Amino acid sequence: MLPEQHDILFSFIAILFGVFGIFVFGNVIQACREREGLNTTLWGGIFAGFALACFLMTVHMFDLVQADQLAFFFGTYVWVVVLLLLTWGMFFKSNKIESQSPPIIRGMFFWTVVSLSLAGYTNWLPQQRSDPPPKEAAIVGDVTMEEFAEMGRVIIFGAKQVAGQKSIGKGQCPLCHGFDPADHMGRCPNLFGVEKRSHDRVKEERYQNLPMKIGETEPAAGIVKGKYDEIPEEYRRQHGPDELTGEDYIRESMMCPTCYVVEGFGGAGDTKSPMPVIVKPPISLSRVEVNAVIAYLQSKDTPGEFASVTVPLPQDDAGNTGGAIAEVVEEDDGAIFVTGKEDIPTMINKLGCPLCHTIPGIEGAVGELGPKLHEKTNAPNRIKDPNYKGTATNTKEYVRESILNPGAYVVFNEEAGEAFPDGLMPTTFSEQLSVQAMDKLVDFISQTEAPAGS
Ligand code: HEC
Ligand code: HEC
Repeated sequence: MLPEQHDILFSFIAILFGVFGIFVFGNVIQACREREGLNTTLWGGIFAGFALACFLMTVHMFDLVQADQLAFFFGTYVWVVVLLLLTWGMFFKSNKIESQSPPIIRGMFFWTVVSLSLAGYTNWLPQQRSDPPPKEAAIVGDVTMEEFAEMGRVIIFGAKQVAGQKSIGKGQCPLCHGFDPADHMGRCPNLFGVEKRSHDRVKEERYQNLPMKIGETEPAAGIVKGKYDEIPEEYRRQHGPDELTGEDYIRESMMCPTCYVVEGFGGAGDTKSPMPVIVKPPISLSRVEVNAVIAYLQSKDTPGEFASVTVPLPQDDAGNTGGAIAEVVEEDDGAIFVTGKEDIPTMINKLGCPLCHTIPGIEGAVGELGPKLHEKTNAPNRIKDPNYKGTATNTKEYVRESILNPGAYVVFNEEAGEAFPDGLMPTTFSEQLSVQAMDKLVDFISQTEAPAGS
């Protein structure tokens, strides 16, 4: 179920309640008109208040996503309707219009009870369905290497990978990397053939010394280069020889990108990798997830053939805690989507913008593959540029255009003296954002500016 989905049943009941509130108001006014001695202003005012409240609550229901709809419906809306019914009954009784509540009130009570039990029942169903335990048990028991590599693929691409489309899972790797020989990603190495070259990398002269020597600690990652037995216990390799292996190289590439920078792909003369440490926020892969990704990378170039995979299966992995696997599996969809209910830093981190952009106001957003987002000043300058071929006429339009269609204007990198790579920024964000989230993101990015004093 998509996170932004409304619950059809609840939305329907909310509309009915809204109409009902107006109906009751009309009914009361009519009753007052037909009889002498009733305080029309008082009763009319009370029921107009109810009608307005029902109307506003119905409108509010449509601003909410499903889970919030349920909470609001049961926490607030239902009680207002019950109060409305009681007041309506009181109106009839106290004014002796009828000795008993009129049939419609009893009918409405009956109907409210029925729909509530129905709604309560449907509310209960999905919670039943998402109980994780059975899955976990099945997985921890016996995962084959094929299934484990598939887990890695889902972490990288998400579950719904469509041929010919860029799809991105929680590992975020395809934001930067290509995986097929034909992919040209500009600033990041193509990961085709990485299994093969991983064995050679660790023997290279360059690996021994650049940009740091084996045995030195890389400060950003806190990892000792080239010492697989010194990396944190929960990620360390369990089996295998004492010398460095291809598996160690791939794991180190993820845990400590700057330990070795592929020639021509780093910043500052290949001394610093633009790749994020993927065991730290925002990506934060666990041990089992890292191993699953390695299993995928080691086997993807030889479909159906898993002989070159050296990571242990989860059940053979002494350092594995079952929870981590459940985590991988539970994230069954894997696709990233933001609804706009999240706060700005959460949204931006989920989408991965900080991996490539330095964004003022977002902690840890120090990416260097794309321009610094100072759009309050940048955007007007871009639009004025004679080379600008896009359609934006103001800052917000420019930012929106940049997110939906980054190729509309390719920014020139003054520091490097060349254009930023065209085609690196994904064009898939429109699928990962609700309309509301898009507006919120555009509003935020439009007011970013260089921090004072820089
Ligand atoms: C923000 C962009 C970015 C993201 C996201 C990213 N990488 Fe990288 N990656 C790079 C860059 C740039 C390099 C080259 C510089 C270096 O060696 O660190 C690189 C290098 C690598 C290498 C070494 C390649 C070689 O030829 O030796 C591996 C392996 C790798 N990345 C795997 C991954 C995996 C797996 C993920 C996802 C979990 C990932 N990367 C996410 C940018 C990224
Ligand atoms: C894989 C790297 C990457 C990711 C992830 C990425 N961008 Fe970009 N972005 C770039 C590059 C490279 C450029 C410059 C080239 C161009 O203009 O197409 C750019 C350009 C932009 C621009 C135009 C900047 C200017 O000053 O004119 C904006 C705005 C922008 N990105 C916003 C975002 C937002 C918001 C996100 C997250 C939803 C995001 N980007 C994610 C790489 C990335």
